Amino acid sequence: MDFIKPLSFGQITTSNNLILAPLAGYSHTSMRMMNRKFGAGYTVTEMVSVAGVLRESPKTLRYADISDAPNATSIQIFGKDKPQEFYEASKILQKIFNVKSININFGCPAPKVLKTGAGSRLLEDPQKIADIVNAVKDSGVSVEAKIRCGFSSDNLDAIISALDKSSVDVIMLHCRLTSDRFRHGTAQWDYFRRARNLTSKLLIANGDIKTPEDALHVFKEYQVDGLMIGRGAIAKPYLFKQIQDYCSTGAYTTPSHQELIALLKEYAELWIEVTGSESVRPLRGALMSLVSGFEGVSKMRSALSQCMTLDDIYLVIQEYETLVI
Ligand SMILES: Cc1cc2nc3c(=O)[nH]c(=O)nc-3n(C[C@H](O)[C@H](O)[C@H](O)COP(=O)(O)O)c2cc1C
Repeated sequence: MDFIKPLSFGQITTSNNLILAPLAGYSHTSMRMMNRKFGAGYTVTEMVSVAGVLRESPKTLRYADISDAPNATSIQIFGKDKPQEFYEASKILQKIFNVKSININFGCPAPKVLKTGAGSRLLEDPQKIADIVNAVKDSGVSVEAKIRCGFSSDNLDAIISALDKSSVDVIMLHCRLTSDRFRHGTAQWDYFRRARNLTSKLLIANGDIKTPEDALHVFKEYQVDGLMIGRGAIAKPYLFKQIQDYCSTGAYTTPSHQELIALLKEYAELWIEVTGSESVRPLRGALMSLVSGFEGVSKMRSALSQCMTLDDIYLVIQEYETLVI
């Protein structure tokens, strides 16, 4: 069976159904470009606040910039329970970025977001979720709802039923409760089966899909329309290609150390080119994850954690041979 296929909704047709998750601090333009290069069919920006968009805050709008791939990227927004504000924010984002699809964050567990009644706090009010979705849809875009299974208790049936009746185009399910945070070792994939039985909307599975084997298992077992990958793609941007290969041929390759070093260099250079900044500081975490499988990794990781500029990265690469002895 062919599990890898395009997704089609509204004005969007993706190259495949493997999606890079929104990741605050990580899913910036450079990461999205890198992951698309390795086969991600669709990407989502880090979350930006409705309030920031309404103020047209330059910082917020910088995070929302999707000019790298406007037809393959949605902008994720979060806000409190005011559908009209979501509507207006979506209008602004369409005007500035010509965005075709808005991703609404109903999953963020950060206390400062919850305090305002936004993010996963809204999971407790499925009708409000539907009202917000419908308001954004009325603004003229497609709508993706990124949800969890509930806030502190399982509320999945009510949430999915409300979404099923709404004008949402895509449901992206992170199969944990908010109160789980990341404490539970493995996300509860069985929630995908329940969600699948409750809706025929496009359903994307998210949570602890970290290997090509995980990906094939989730496709086979739960009849979802696509997969969303977060942390796995920080450490392995090439995971998307591995999943495609594994799903179509039953085999995949892993980059050699030399290829990973080349990737590290390419990533840092791309970052400098895209941001126009001299500092590689915000990229350090991603670069350190990239080499996490290396022998002698602690020395290399600690050297990367000190890098300020591209030249520092070049030096670490040069010293890699000596660092790992
Ligand atoms: C560092 C980090 C930042 C995240 N930022 C966001 C975000 O901005 N919006 C969102 O909806 N989810 C965010 N998430 C959750 C992920 O999108 C995803 O749902 C979660 O990590 C589970 O998927 P995974 O197991 O593939 O990582 C974040 C997760 C991490 C680890």
